[in-house]
Amino acid sequence: MYLCFDVGGTNIKAGLVDTSGMILAKQSVLTQSDEQADLVLQQFLELQNVLCRKSGIAPEQIRAASVGVAGFVEMETGKVIRAVNLGWHDVPVAERVSTMLGVPVFVINDANGAALGEMWQGAGKGADDLLCLTIGTGVGGGVIANGRIINGTYGLAGEIGHFRVKIKDGRPCNCGKTGCLETEASASAIAYYGERAARQYPKSRLAQRLTQAGTITSKDVAEAAQESDKAACEIMEHAAYYLGYALASIFTVTAPMRIVIGGGAAAAGASLFTPLIHWFHEFALPDIKDKNIIVPAVLGNDAGIIGLAKLAEMNLLTSPGIE
Ligand code: BGC
Ligand code: NA
Ligand code: ZN
Repeated sequence: MYLCFDVGGTNIKAGLVDTSGMILAKQSVLTQSDEQADLVLQQFLELQNVLCRKSGIAPEQIRAASVGVAGFVEMETGKVIRAVNLGWHDVPVAERVSTMLGVPVFVINDANGAALGEMWQGAGKGADDLLCLTIGTGVGGGVIANGRIINGTYGLAGEIGHFRVKIKDGRPCNCGKTGCLETEASASAIAYYGERAARQYPKSRLAQRLTQAGTITSKDVAEAAQESDKAACEIMEHAAYYLGYALASIFTVTAPMRIVIGGGAAAAGASLFTPLIHWFHEFALPDIKDKNIIVPAVLGNDAGIIGLAKLAEMNLLTSPGIE
């Protein structure tokens, strides 16, 4: 039994997952923001209690904990170097969580965790050269080559959200740069552009929505696009254009067999996927014959915790000493 925490920019998804990848209990809570991660670690303790209660499993049955964090993760040390949307700097997550819970703890970037999950049980099955993108608060990337996660120096590999797509006049990103893929195509970016359009076009669907709800979410924009609202379609097209450009460029580096798109915004469906597939093939080498290389994720919000169980399993098998 593994205790898995997937810490995203907005939610923490926690689950008790067994060695076959089956989820015995899960729970999602809002991510508390604090620079030293104290509040989040406190949330872990509470989540452990909730999950044990829900599943009837005793804490002693938990062999390891696995943590996915929306940031740059040095996997060897289990340290988060920086999490731009959480405000974390140099947090020794593995050390602190294992002191707190008394089990071995493994740490991985959230999108890398989702990529492992999709490769093991989801849309990436059978593809050991895989690229996974998560479109949520940020844009996450997971690059798997020969079945292994490419983590890179300082855990900076696969940080596709910070691939600079707008060389000039980009919006500022929380990473400190401007014009990142994340500032153009994340769920937060789609919501930002949606709200801007709502103010600009007072007769649009988006404007109606803004008056009703006081705010615009990426889901509102996707729904308005589904109903052919012009401004909403343009926002989805804009996001898809930059995603297609980034994915085509990244394809030239590792040439994955499959590209899996997950995260909340993947629920947008055709309004995102149709232009994304178009722009990807427009920018990519013409030799990519597979028109179905880009697929939606199938595990939804569970990809992270399932991948985290896989990570724990792999680590315990290769380092039996830490039990
Ligand atoms: C972070 C990544 C993370 C992604 C998705 C980005 O802003 O830099 O580490 O994977 O958001 O959460
Ligand atoms: Na990553
Ligand atoms: Zn950035």
